Amino acid sequence: MELPFAESYKIKMVERIYRSTRKQREDWIKQASYNLFNLKSEQVYIDLLTDSGTGAMSQNQWAAIMTGDESYAGSSSYYHLKDAIRTILGFEYFLPTHQGRAAENVLFSVLVKADNVVPGNSHFDTTKGHIEYRKASAVDCTIDEAFDTDSLHPFKGNIDLEKLEAVYTAHPVGQIPMVIVTLTCNTSGGQPVSMQNLRDVYALSQKYGIKVVFDSARFAENAWFIQQREDEYRNKTIKEIVAEMFSYADAMTMSSKKDGIVNIGGFIAVKEEALYKQASVFNIMFEGFNTYGGMAGRDMNALAVGLDEVTTDDYLENRIQQVAYLGNLLIANNIPVQKPIGGHAVFVDAKKFLGHVPKEEYVAQTLAIELYLESGVRGVEVGTLLADRDPLTRENRYPKLEMLRLAIPRRTYTNNHMDVVAVALKNIFDRRELINHGYRIKKEAPIMRHFSVELEHADDTNQD
Ligand code: F0G
Repeated sequence: MELPFAESYKIKMVERIYRSTRKQREDWIKQASYNLFNLKSEQVYIDLLTDSGTGAMSQNQWAAIMTGDESYAGSSSYYHLKDAIRTILGFEYFLPTHQGRAAENVLFSVLVKADNVVPGNSHFDTTKGHIEYRKASAVDCTIDEAFDTDSLHPFKGNIDLEKLEAVYTAHPVGQIPMVIVTLTCNTSGGQPVSMQNLRDVYALSQKYGIKVVFDSARFAENAWFIQQREDEYRNKTIKEIVAEMFSYADAMTMSSKKDGIVNIGGFIAVKEEALYKQASVFNIMFEGFNTYGGMAGRDMNALAVGLDEVTTDDYLENRIQQVAYLGNLLIANNIPVQKPIGGHAVFVDAKKFLGHVPKEEYVAQTLAIELYLESGVRGVEVGTLLADRDPLTRENRYPKLEMLRLAIPRRTYTNNHMDVVAVALKNIFDRRELINHGYRIKKEAPIMRHFSVELEHADDTNQD
């Protein structure tokens, strides 16, 4: 008999987590105005809110922390990270930032002007926020299959080249500062982009003289899917695949909190010295001097090690296997999820799950609250609340997909935790016919409202 799969690590340090009663959770979520971001972490049993900055570092990363160099300028930690970025990702120039959105802020301060158009594959919310804040607009050119959760397309993060070229021809080139390719595409379900698509997007963009920027938060997970699903990459190592992926980019932004396997940090990397110099000015202003830019030396050291670890076949097999484990449990229970299962999270199709809740009552948020009440598991809404209002009409934007995201922190939970999540969702699925109402907004911010929104029951018989 073949031996079963098991993690290729053992656990050296543990952190206690706590279960709670349904009554406690009812009180806590009400006090949190039905916004899961307002819960205290100890009120959460299994936290699948995000895979960002929530992973466990390895002993080698912790060891690197102890040898961090905290010099203001020219620290050895900066040079360790510079080396890792050059060797693994192939970029000559880089600027550290405190996280991914800071990298966006710095780079877009150079590149994005009012009335610009920035095409991409379902830009992440902070990316879109930084574009719209500059009075420019983000155009989604993701392939249509991404919005059909039952389509088994192997690369649902791909950019539709016709949609992209239509943007390139509809506007003067000077109005399009870049195309942003998000690897993997978080918004459509942690879905990968194929190497072929990266190559094609680069060729098309070069033809029009437009820069290609990768939002690289989950680049290693993307490389794993290329290795598994694109024939000519079957026998290549993850490091070889990563090197080729980034050969099709002029610049990248990175949230190191994901595939850097660190708790905080980010960076911009570019190939051209001129762009590096322009971005440096904003980096010094917003983040810090160029050799630390918002990161401690010790954190840059841990990130250099993380970039090496995350680009190993062994690490990625463990990672993707666990996400697939949860996804397959849900599929076995007929729970509608984005298929194939993505790299960092399982996305539950809330519109299919809770068919009776009107879209005006925030369907995915309703499911997220139900899951918390059932089990103390915290997921996150990727739906109408996150999509914000149209900046001009102020109407709700109803996205094509209304999802509950269950993001799995790296090297943190075991498959026993995944079993709890699966049973909790099955229990809700079995009584879904009884859930007819969702929530309405009491208070919201003008942008990125999902972080602070206050909600109440939409069903008036259910008094708050
Ligand atoms: N790009 C992508 C694709 C992301 O998923 C994120 C963050 C960012 C950029 C911004 O990076 O958080 O370091 O400032 N995503 C987190 C998430 C918050 O939960 O998916 P950041």
